[in-house]
Amino acid sequence: MHTPIASQAENTILYEPSLFGKPEQQLFDPDYWLARNVATSIEGGRGQVIFIHDDQRNWVLRHYHRGGFIAKFNQDRYLWQGAEATRSFREWRLLAKLVDLDLPVPIPVAARYVRRGISYQADLITQEIIGAKSLATLLQKASLSPTQWQYIGLTLTRFHSHGVQHADLNAHNIVFDETMTMHLLDFDRGVIRAVNQGWIDQVLQRLLRSLNKLKVQRSIHFNMNDWRQLLTAHHKQLNY
Ligand SMILES: Nc1ncnc2c1ncn2[C@@H]1O[C@H](COP(=O)(O)OP(=O)(O)O)[C@@H](O)[C@H]1O
Ligand SMILES: [Mg+2]
Repeated sequence: MHTPIASQAENTILYEPSLFGKPEQQLFDPDYWLARNVATSIEGGRGQVIFIHDDQRNWVLRHYHRGGFIAKFNQDRYLWQGAEATRSFREWRLLAKLVDLDLPVPIPVAARYVRRGISYQADLITQEIIGAKSLATLLQKASLSPTQWQYIGLTLTRFHSHGVQHADLNAHNIVFDETMTMHLLDFDRGVIRAVNQGWIDQVLQRLLRSLNKLKVQRSIHFNMNDWRQLLTAHHKQLNY
């Protein structure tokens, strides 16, 4: 289906009309929501994340922030390489595809870029996964059962067998809703590519490093037996 795009001056919005309504710029402005007392703000992996709750909306608004060394002198500007190459449009398009594939990810609501000459800034709005608790948070309180670790492995296989490569799979980007259904967040820089054991192993190793790091830093309930449950379930379903 064709997704509408609305442009005004240097701002362009890609959006789902049934969710977003009229494509107004102010809907991407955290202060617009905070002033109405329908928003809360948290510190995400890289920057501020705004949760918007009113009678029509359960949205999560994220501004794209740079990471690493570059962030010291350039917090949120990216090099312009065309509309479809922007961080927000790419993530929106990927999420839309994953939703079509019935994979458990947030439903994309709207993506925006604001272009100024050779650079742009970007924002993304998704439907909130209500009651989402990250794997990191859950493991701080208690361990998960072998069945739950297998379930995580099986869910990751569903992504991997479609060639979906997450660019930053860690224990914060795996979340569980109120029914303990798992979802993956944060598809910035994610891609769909040919299924290949090399990148899949790298994605899993990244998750393992994240869990091991949290074990040292926050004493989460995690051990290598848990990991073996995940890995065995993952590999059993995936035919390389
Ligand atoms: N659709 C969503 N539903 C619920 N929580 C979300 C959603 N999107 C983001 N979040 C919350 O915001 C945090 C940061 O978002 P994320 O997409 O991981 O970006 P980043 O890590 O780059 O800041 C997540 O760890 C999660 O707590
Ligand atoms: Mg994240």
